[in-house]
Amino acid sequence: MKKLKENGLIHILNNVYSCIESYVDIPAGKTVELDLGCGKGGFSLALAERFPDSLILSADIMIGRMRKLDSRIRRRGLANISLFRVEARHFTALVLPDASLDRLHILCPDPWPKHRHRHNRLLCSDFIFHIYRVLKSSGVFHFSTDDVKYFKSTVNLIELSGLLVRDDDALNDISDIKTDFEKRWNDIGRKVHHACWRKKNILNHGIHGQHGN
Ligand SMILES: C[S@@+](CC[C@H](N)C(=O)[O-])C[C@H]1O[C@@H](n2cnc3c(N)ncnc32)[C@H](O)[C@@H]1O
Repeated sequence: MKKLKENGLIHILNNVYSCIESYVDIPAGKTVELDLGCGKGGFSLALAERFPDSLILSADIMIGRMRKLDSRIRRRGLANISLFRVEARHFTALVLPDASLDRLHILCPDPWPKHRHRHNRLLCSDFIFHIYRVLKSSGVFHFSTDDVKYFKSTVNLIELSGLLVRDDDALNDISDIKTDFEKRWNDIGRKVHHACWRKKNILNHGIHGQHGN
């Protein structure tokens, strides 16, 4: 049975979480992209319009932003976006099964620039493990931020994890699409840095293979 949705489109997830398939039908072989922390959702809308055969999942903690996005989806008559009002870590850890996403976008997340607040950042080593887990084989993780320190620390964390391999070409088909925040930053002369990685096939790259075991 499908879970109840607000206004027919927004899934509100608070304390009880089910697998993604109980909220939305995902036929086998469907391309699925997640815009995590989508905000007002300009990026999600652009993805949904460019890739009508894909399913776009858009998630954010702020219900007001989800409602605005809901209205924009209805006005454009898009049927290939599903909205989730949910905390990002809960959605990733509790709702998404292994190997469920073709691309995961985390774009301009809150940077928490003060040193004492850095533990609030979404991108940390635990979370990178979940990113790895929910990506399909060769799935893509796309990150952007205007905060140079956050950008460098994320690149370092991912390199240290050994779970993903850098591949900025995986963005070639969407490099022209900017999020609402990226447009805002660009308007006041701030650059937004992007990076992209593919899921590594650990079995082939050999945790066990390196010493000939
Ligand atoms: C700076 S905005 C960026 C929005 C959008 N990605 C863009 O680039 O225009 C960050 C977004 O992440 C959402 N957010 C922050 N922490 C979150 C969390 N723990 N779970 C889900 N969403 C979160 C905020 O509500 C906000 O909409």
